[in-house]
This record gives sequence, C-alpha cells and structure tokens, in this order.
Amino acid sequence: VSASLKNSYKDDFYIGTALSADQIEEKNAKEDSLICREFNAITAENIMKSMFVHPQKDKYDFTLSDKFVAFGEKNKMFIHGHTLIWHSQLAPWMEKIKDSIEMKAFMKDHITTIVSQYKGRINSWDVVNEALNEDGTLRKSVFLNTLGEDYLVDAFKLAAAADPKVDLYYNDYNLEDPAKREGVIRLVKKIKAAGGKIDGVGSQGHWQLDSPSLEEIEKSILAYSALGVKVAFTELDITVLPNPWDLKGADVNQNFEGNAKMNPYPEILPDSVQTKLAQRYADIFKLFLKHKDKISRVTFWGVHDRQSWLNDWPIKGRTNYPLLFDKELQPKKAYNSVMQLKEAK
Ligand code: G3I
Repeated sequence: VSASLKNSYKDDFYIGTALSADQIEEKNAKEDSLICREFNAITAENIMKSMFVHPQKDKYDFTLSDKFVAFGEKNKMFIHGHTLIWHSQLAPWMEKIKDSIEMKAFMKDHITTIVSQYKGRINSWDVVNEALNEDGTLRKSVFLNTLGEDYLVDAFKLAAAADPKVDLYYNDYNLEDPAKREGVIRLVKKIKAAGGKIDGVGSQGHWQLDSPSLEEIEKSILAYSALGVKVAFTELDITVLPNPWDLKGADVNQNFEGNAKMNPYPEILPDSVQTKLAQRYADIFKLFLKHKDKISRVTFWGVHDRQSWLNDWPIKGRTNYPLLFDKELQPKKAYNSVMQLKEAK
C-alpha cells in the first residue's frame, strides 16, 4: 500500500477534497491521479449548488452532478452532496419566491428531486448551509423571510423522506466561536425535538494560522458529539495571509486595492511561513486523531493551492497558500507534517 493521506488515515476518518468542474470532468490527468492517490471522499465545490442544478423553476440540470457521482463511484469514494438549502448561489428565480405557500412548494420539489436523483448513491448531504449569524441567531434569507425558523426542520424532514438512509448534515463556518456554537446546539436540538433526522454537524474549517484555538476546536467537537451527531470538518483550509479586514483598520470605506500588505507573498511562500503552516496542520490533525471516534470525515476545500477560492479573494491578484499541495501539485511541508503524525506510531 503506497503512502498517501487516505491510506495513512484509513482507520481514522475519510480524507476528502472539494472538486472543481474541471476536475470532475477529468480534464487534467496529473490532477486526476493525485486526487485518486490521496483522497477517498469528494465534495463538489460548486456544481451541485442550487443555481447549477435547478436553474429554472421547471428545469433541473444534472449533467455535471451525474459526472461527479459517477467519478466517486468509479473510484470507490465517499460522496458528499453540497448543498440543498443555502442563501448563496441561488438561481435568480429562487430569490423572487415571495410567500410561504410558494416556498413550501419550492422546498418540497427541490429537495425531493435532488435527493431522489442520487438516492442510495450519495453518502451524505449538507441539507442546510450557513443558516446562522455570528451571534448564533438565524440569518436573514429568502427561506427565513417566507417560512420563519420552521424551514430548517422542514428541510431535514424532506431530505430524510427522499432518502431515509443518507446522512444529513448541518454545515457552517466559524463553528468554534462560542456564540455560534450555542446557535448550532439550539438548532440541532430543535430539529430533533420536532421529529427531524439530523446525523451530523459539518464545521467548514476555513481557519487562520493562529485562530481558532485548539481549545475552541476541541470544545466544539465535544459539544456537537454530545448531541449524538457525527462531526465532520468539511471545507478545511488555512489562510497564511493577514485578515484583510484587520488591515483596513477602522476605515471600512477604504478599499483594498494598492495595499501591499494584502499580498505579502506574491511569488513563493517563504520557508518560515511554510514551517508555521506545517506546524498548524500538525496540531490540528493531532487533535482530530485524539477524537477520531467522533469525527467522520476531514475534507480539504480544494486539492492544491492553485485551485483555492482564497486566491483572488477579497481582491484580484491576492495569492494564498492554504492547502497541502502547492501550485505545481507537489506536497508541501504541511503534507509531510500531517503524514508524519501517523508514521510516528
Ligand atoms: O460560473 C461562473 C462562470 O460562468 C464564470 O466564467 C466565472 C468567472 O469568474 O465565474 C463563475 O462563478 C464562480 C463560481 O465560484 C464557480 O466557479 C463565482 O464567480 C465565484 O464567486 C464562485 O466562488 C465559489 C464560492 O463558494 C461562492 O460563494 C467558490 O468557488 C467556492 O469555493 C466557495 O465555496 C464556499 C462553500 O460553498 C460554502 N462555504 C464557504 C466556501 C468558500 O467561500
């Protein structure tokens, strides 16, 4: 058995990656073999979102998502669906849904059709994505506006009805923040109390070098699993760049353009930062291993640094280095540090 992330962690949890549309279409043989060598779980980075699979009221388009699921089946991978109900990347017509009657009809049709399409073939779904504000209250959205908080319970019930065996997740970011953590706990309890089925909480894991702390990550793992659900880290990446909003300081109107600090490593990541990133990943995976009985899956939000959504964000030309493989698809120090944790035993 060759050395790889998926082989090293095979007794612990799935090691996944998000796939871009090009990767799903297997446009690059080198990327394709890297994906199959290192990962045993996949999530579609974009193409299963509402605007892509349900572009018009009476029209679904499963062309790419069918390819995505076939890719996972061919390679015997764990297949995760992302995402059924999210306020972002909606088709324009969905934003115009105006009352509870229309919204109820939409949710029933949308969730039932998509989940049924892959019944028995997809292992887990993000049923609802990013429904919470930072303070743990419910985020304003077309769903909340038309249906009130019951839309959450409805979504989980509809998904379970369409495929009773698939694992159903609530997925969100900053779930290590104490206020948001309390919000998730309330939400999971509410869904269960209302007779809904929820099997897991997905913490996206878009993290920094120094935050969140290992203590807060551990508290969240323990708090969510105490509710009787699985914990997954679903979109892991670690930015090595300063938070742009910190750089802007108090002046919220100042734009980012021309701020040299926005892009401190435009060509290559200095060795000292490589080392910091490797240490951070090692600390995090050590914690994941400590709680492997509670963790179902750890998925990176992309295969390599060239693919990351953190490039060109929040301004064009910003280059980031958040993953385990570099822009040439070579393993970084961070890859070695994650592998070494298992070799040491
Ligand atoms: O589809 C258009 C295409 O037609 C056009 O040619 C191209 C030109 O730039 O843009 C394409 O749309 C982009 C889309 O990704 C598909 O590539 C959007 O501009 C771009 O904004 C969009 O970004 C995605 C983002 O979600 C949207 O919110 C990122 O790739 C994706 O990584 C990111 O993923 C989210 C998770 O779903 C939820 N959690 C946070 C995470 C990171 O933001």
